[in-house]
Amino acid sequence: MKNIQAYIQEHKERFLNELTELLKIPSISADSAYKNDVLKTAEAVKTSLEKAGCDMVEICPTKGYPIVYGEKIFDDSLPTVLVYGHYDVQPADPLELWTSPPFEPVIKKTETHPHGAIYARGACDDKGQMYMHVKALEFMTKTNQLPCNVKFMVEGEEEVGSVNLSTFVKENREKLKNDVILISDTGMIANDIPSITTGLRGLSYVEVEVTGPNRDLHSGLYGGAVANPINVLTKMIASLHDENNHITIPGFYDKVENLSEAERAEMAKAPFNLDNYKKALDIDAVYGENGYTTNERNSIRPTLDVNGIWGGYTGEGAKTVIASKAFAKISMRLVPHQEWEEITELFTKHFESITPKGVKVKVKPHHGGQGYVTPIDNIGYQAASKAYEETFGKTPIPQRSGGSIPIVALFEQELKSKTILMGFGLDSDAIHSPNEHFGVFNYLKGIETIPYFYKYFVELSK
Ligand code: BES
Ligand code: MN
Ligand code: MN
Repeated sequence: MKNIQAYIQEHKERFLNELTELLKIPSISADSAYKNDVLKTAEAVKTSLEKAGCDMVEICPTKGYPIVYGEKIFDDSLPTVLVYGHYDVQPADPLELWTSPPFEPVIKKTETHPHGAIYARGACDDKGQMYMHVKALEFMTKTNQLPCNVKFMVEGEEEVGSVNLSTFVKENREKLKNDVILISDTGMIANDIPSITTGLRGLSYVEVEVTGPNRDLHSGLYGGAVANPINVLTKMIASLHDENNHITIPGFYDKVENLSEAERAEMAKAPFNLDNYKKALDIDAVYGENGYTTNERNSIRPTLDVNGIWGGYTGEGAKTVIASKAFAKISMRLVPHQEWEEITELFTKHFESITPKGVKVKVKPHHGGQGYVTPIDNIGYQAASKAYEETFGKTPIPQRSGGSIPIVALFEQELKSKTILMGFGLDSDAIHSPNEHFGVFNYLKGIETIPYFYKYFVELSK
């Protein structure tokens, strides 16, 4: 890649300014109050792809938010890379915990990011990482170094389950035909320890509702005499793990793939410092399933976590009341071979079966998705590995992640191609949290590394 470093040096202020403009638009897909902003973001992505050199860009409507599709095809005999990313972001709350407003991006220096990091909702997940691909394309087209065909598919509903994208993919197999899918929507170990994500967990997300008496009651007059839905719900939830922190749902582990001792030993080689991990989170101990390390607990093992719980009185002061209803949102992270629909069903059956007399329980399934593992003996992985060697001077470490991008399994099923997850975020970048940020180093390194992926992928395809 001729002059890539010089090109980035010359244009880096503009690269940062353009990303800043994109980050200013609050494209929160979960909250309909932001509908116009989400749509505006799709337009902005379209314009950026046109400017970066796509021959054709369109906004494809769906039942929900549109998908931005762009392509530059110049030779059918050359391979095609399909880039996927998302332009929607998570809600920004709790707002009071942000040190600067979530949609007014600013660059701040941190210990981990001495060159500065851009603070904004979506900086890392996924606008910043998606935009690296747009700028990498710009570099390749402007310097006549794009070695193959490229397609972009950027959606606006990733954070709410990609429901309409599945339909789009199923209906547009020919249009989306490709030789490899490239995604930057994950992380790496550290700026001096590059890694490539080789696995994602699946997900089953449910909401539960426990109803006791038909109305809120005086907790003195009725307390002790009727089932309190909040007491019952918390007891039911507590029973979902045993004393070894194993999940107690019958059949939950049936399809879990158990890694061999050799595979686990290989995994354990990845650099990890437990003290730093605890320090960064200000916790005095880690917690999880007995018999597994922290890195195993958050990648190769399934989990069950309450994501939200509510009911009763939560306002100022005290109100003596027994609520009629209690609710919780629960996510289960799944590993390859666990089927998310089946797990949702197992959960529902089990949760209903442990309902005590005196309350009624409803389980409402939300979205879900399959996990994914990619082998490292394919040319896509090898091309990515060589690209990192080129720009980081080190061979990247393959590592499974605990997060989920459910659409990746569907890509494999429908488009029959492998996905390469070249993520440049860090765990400390606070995605989905207040003060999300993305290192300037990471952003520019991503822009520098991506063109090498194209180069090596084409070379290895020959
Ligand atoms: N980009 C994340 C997923 C991710 C982050 C994977 C870091 C690996 C490392 C994605 O936007 C996300 O947040 N996914 C959701 C699932 C989705 C169905 C809402 C998740 O993992 O909670
Ligand atoms: Mn994401
Ligand atoms: Mn996300």
